Amino acid sequence: MSGRHPGYRRSSARCACFRATFTPSGAAAVLTTAAHLQARTVAATVRFSNSEGKPHTPDTAPVTRFHLHDGSDTDLVALTVPRFVASTPGEFLLPTEALRPDPVIHQPDLARVHAFVGAHPHLAEVVAQQLPIPVSYASAAFWAIHAFIWVDVAGVRRPVRYRWEPEAGRSELTAAEAATRTAHYLTDELHQRLEHAPVAFELRIQLAEPDDATHDPSTVWPDHRKEITAGRLEITAPADEQDPWNTQAFNPTRVTSGIQLSDDPVLAFRAHAYAESHLRRSRNQ
Ligand code: HEM
Repeated sequence: MSGRHPGYRRSSARCACFRATFTPSGAAAVLTTAAHLQARTVAATVRFSNSEGKPHTPDTAPVTRFHLHDGSDTDLVALTVPRFVASTPGEFLLPTEALRPDPVIHQPDLARVHAFVGAHPHLAEVVAQQLPIPVSYASAAFWAIHAFIWVDVAGVRRPVRYRWEPEAGRSELTAAEAATRTAHYLTDELHQRLEHAPVAFELRIQLAEPDDATHDPSTVWPDHRKEITAGRLEITAPADEQDPWNTQAFNPTRVTSGIQLSDDPVLAFRAHAYAESHLRRSRNQ
């Protein structure tokens, strides 16, 4: 869909990386033994990127790498929407095809979209979800989408979902306003904003009830599920060097002790897809 761009990621190709710190609130410490969610502040790196494999389209997604005190890392990869467009890896190609812009009208062909939804009614809501156009990276919420399993000191397992909530509050552009912005307006705006003050997000955790499904990233749990704030991410400045971060492989399955993968097949599949993408771009393919 994005064409071939040797040396770049197959998805989320364009990026800007920033230095940050993450300070846990302590509220998560009774639910998981994960080191960055206990008491001490850890350093973090945040990579904001666009969501496709074209290196020059606008930016929308962040990945946060927490640098733990034992020298290891753990990643949290997120998007500006709460649901993924497929329930399984096999299903992923179907909406991608259905939503592909028609070469003449540059919009998805509505007849094809309707036919797709008719054949896959459980994906109707995700196909219809509007991508928000944030005023700023600092005013967007970001969801990690999949369920993860937290494990406490007694070995008790609890499914959770992650969301970054901007301290500045959420604000969006209309399509008409967005049409006046450059492709890189979010990155440019964040650089300008950081010259005056840090940008902060709260890490909000939604806790599952016993019957909440953990295997389907195209669904969400009810809004009224209990939430806790696990900590505060403060982005302070651009990373000293961009290129080394760009050649890194971030991966949502890089979890740390106290966090496990759920039974979501899309999450399991991403481990392989990201490794393969990294291998190929390392070879400049
Ligand atoms: C079957 C499902 C998926 C496939 C096959 C897939 C594939 C990929 C690939 C190949 C990359 C480039 C990796 C690299 O070269 O390092 C990537 C990056 C990315 N994907 Fe996915 N993805 C999937 C699902 C998702 C979901 C559910 C999310 C939502 C959180 C997501 C968010 C991202 C983000 C934010 C990046 C950029 C990561 C970075 O900055 O390094 N993807 N994806």
